[in-house]
Amino acid sequence: MADIFERLVKNYGPIGQHRQRAHGYFAFPKLEGPISSRMKFRGKDVIVWSLNNYLGLANHPEIRKIDAEATEQFGLAYPMGARMMSGNSNQHEQLEAELAAFENKEDAILLNYGYQGIMSTIDAICGRHDIIVYDAESHACIIDGLRLHTGHRYVYKHNDIEDLQKQLDRATALIEKQNSGGILVITEGVFGMAGDQGKLKEIVDLKLKYDFRLLVDDAHGFGTLGKTGAGAGEEQNCQDGIDLYFSTFAKSMASIGAFLAGPRIIIDYIRYNIRSQIFAKSLPMPIVIGNLKRLQMLRTMPELKEKLWHNATKLQTGLKERGFDIGATDSPVTPVYMKGGVEEATAMVMDLRENYGVFASIVVYPVIPKGHIIYRLIPSAAHTDEDIEQTLEAFSATKEKLDAGVYKVTEIPDMADVHAGRFNYIVDKVKNK
Ligand SMILES: Cc1ncc(COP(=O)(O)O)c(C=O)c1O
Repeated sequence: MADIFERLVKNYGPIGQHRQRAHGYFAFPKLEGPISSRMKFRGKDVIVWSLNNYLGLANHPEIRKIDAEATEQFGLAYPMGARMMSGNSNQHEQLEAELAAFENKEDAILLNYGYQGIMSTIDAICGRHDIIVYDAESHACIIDGLRLHTGHRYVYKHNDIEDLQKQLDRATALIEKQNSGGILVITEGVFGMAGDQGKLKEIVDLKLKYDFRLLVDDAHGFGTLGKTGAGAGEEQNCQDGIDLYFSTFAKSMASIGAFLAGPRIIIDYIRYNIRSQIFAKSLPMPIVIGNLKRLQMLRTMPELKEKLWHNATKLQTGLKERGFDIGATDSPVTPVYMKGGVEEATAMVMDLRENYGVFASIVVYPVIPKGHIIYRLIPSAAHTDEDIEQTLEAFSATKEKLDAGVYKVTEIPDMADVHAGRFNYIVDKVKNK
């Protein structure tokens, strides 16, 4: 018989295989100091483009104050137990009511985390005869939700409405054949990697032709899109056609937890059937009170969203003017597409961090095809014009070096060397090229 542990340590997985070289620098880096556009990385000041702190609320003095006061008053324990048993409170219900009103839905339910909340929602509402039709680039939490689904699932090409119709034709035919079940379409308001919005309006319009319910994960659209910040549904003027609207609090609200909004009778059904909430302790009171405050600021301080968009537009326009490919983003998420190997990408990131003071996350093979590099920059209301200008300069300078082959190193820099202060062979090699 195989020993499970033995198998695991033979193959640490696609990213884990690089852990010894990457840990603490490319993977699991530590950003220190107060959360803002400039933080400390390994003791050095860096401009940070990796945080989903869209509205700059993470370290806002009013937020820090309310978080501290609520913790002082309630501690982290209250309320104890799951909502259904003993962990309910007026504040939990108030937050749900305010979220529902903001999203123009009848009711909402709080979820402890977005990831398990979406998974558990899919599990709660879909039976084995139902068919789920979902976008190919859906977030991992949607994919893991599908793994709980015992019925059929059909994937459609990313944002491809023609292919979605093909899958809806297939699903409709199967449901008619089995004479039971319904269809749930799942997409995102904004796709977090490429920054393009889901084609919600076109999907909602398909309801004229097909019978289905629509669940939208709007983690990146909530607070950033739409006139009032209600998200991608409001932005595309089709909020009413979204049957279940989901967002996490972890991005524009810079907090933790999530919610799902929709028709009262359905949210009530979910409330009594969603296993991740029924069998888990409810959100602690300081989180709920902190989220009430964040929602209030999100609603009543449009200048935060305006500042975010000022920064996003400045960054994206600046990158395009300098010849960078940022794809088809129509949200603040700003991908920068480049060509190069994994080793080159790591040397380039090191140069950016060490010599230019810019901290950005990269995505490389095996997450994306070999030979490609994606930088993912997340602007926020907390960034300044100076942060953006300095970053644009740094990107131009390092891209020139990339194209000239300066970053062609034979292997990923070894973090054992980095931690021992012996990493300058890379940093110095590329510094003044
Ligand atoms: C699209 C999307 N859905 C869900 C989640 C998960 O949310 P949470 O961090 O609250 O678990 C994320 C977070 O990265 C996300 O980007």
